[in-house]
Amino acid sequence: MYNKKTIEDIEVSGKKVLVRCDFNVPMKDDVITDDKRIVEALPTIKYLKNHGARVILCSHMGRPKGEFNMKYSLAPVAARLSELLACEVVLAKDVIGEDAKAKAAALKDGEILLIENVRFHKEEEKNDPAFAKELASLAEIYVNDAFGTAHRAHASTAGVADYLPAVCGYLIQKEISIMGGALADPRRPFVAILGGAKVSDKIGVINNLIEKVDTLIIGGGMAYTFFRAMGNSTGTSICEEDQLDLARSLMEKARAKGVSFLLPVDNVIARKYAEDATYMRIYSDSIPDGWMGLDIGDKTQELFAKSIEGAGTVVWNGPMGVSEWEHFAGGTRAVAKAIAESGAISIIGGGDSAAAVEKLGFADQMTHISTGGGASLEFLEGKELPGIACLNEKDA
Ligand code: 3PG
Repeated sequence: MYNKKTIEDIEVSGKKVLVRCDFNVPMKDDVITDDKRIVEALPTIKYLKNHGARVILCSHMGRPKGEFNMKYSLAPVAARLSELLACEVVLAKDVIGEDAKAKAAALKDGEILLIENVRFHKEEEKNDPAFAKELASLAEIYVNDAFGTAHRAHASTAGVADYLPAVCGYLIQKEISIMGGALADPRRPFVAILGGAKVSDKIGVINNLIEKVDTLIIGGGMAYTFFRAMGNSTGTSICEEDQLDLARSLMEKARAKGVSFLLPVDNVIARKYAEDATYMRIYSDSIPDGWMGLDIGDKTQELFAKSIEGAGTVVWNGPMGVSEWEHFAGGTRAVAKAIAESGAISIIGGGDSAAAVEKLGFADQMTHISTGGGASLEFLEGKELPGIACLNEKDA
């Protein structure tokens, strides 16, 4: 478990503080469609402002490939921050250029500046030391609060920590204490639910969680690789032929550890991968030729819900079916509902499962919905996150 210094462990009053946030929010036609990541950054920003820091916010947005591109400007984020904080958040036109330097130098205590998208410089993703040093020279203290980008070793997420005192903000602190706490000392029974399309994307998580959980539930497209590994037919369902041995060895590992390993027992199948495809329910874990599994069936929903009902801790990553299409959203909805009603400590990995929980209306009944997609997955894999590892340790 990490034991990193936080913003409360350092004197920030009158100091220029560079804060790395993850403002990589979904946008449509220049409008932010979900501001959760901005809202989750507010406690740290407010603390710094209220303690008289001169706040310099930075973030990436999208993947502009190291070039200035207005499409990826943080202007909409500056506007949203100004509304949420009810004070002006000025946007610099550049990252380490004249405008950012002049605006950072002119900040007064309690004022907030946002510099432009750090990925407008190709040096950012290369973690170039000269770029990191230049970025660091804007400030006297570095705060990382970008949990969603903490799995990237980039200049603004890790490199700057070589040049400044480096601490974490409240969001990173919250993410690692809730997720880390659940992994280190879970209230039992500990149930993990993993979905999504591919086993290969989740090998690390499955391997790490098998060591810790009492029950492992597998749904989503990756269940079909396990079906095939058991000798069942899978029709045209997504199936990773090259992962069959691995799937068998994971099931064997679960058996050896006494972990209850649950797979779907029935399915919703369709003729093709399309929202309007002909579909039906089959009470079997074998998929007929010419059909593909796109969701778990009713019996499976009941089976999974029963396990979740008695859980002390639930960790969920990955939908049970194609949850963005109504006919194939039943499994994901049933699992979300069961978690919401379970009374368990519930942790939802970011990305698709977080989006599904929000869309289906269960978000406020969960203990924690991570702001990190890739980052929460790597955290659950037990990997060290460079954006956290680089921060200063608390004094012994
Ligand atoms: C995310 O949305 O997962 C983070 O903001 C990281 O973005 P990236 O995958 O482009 O590094």
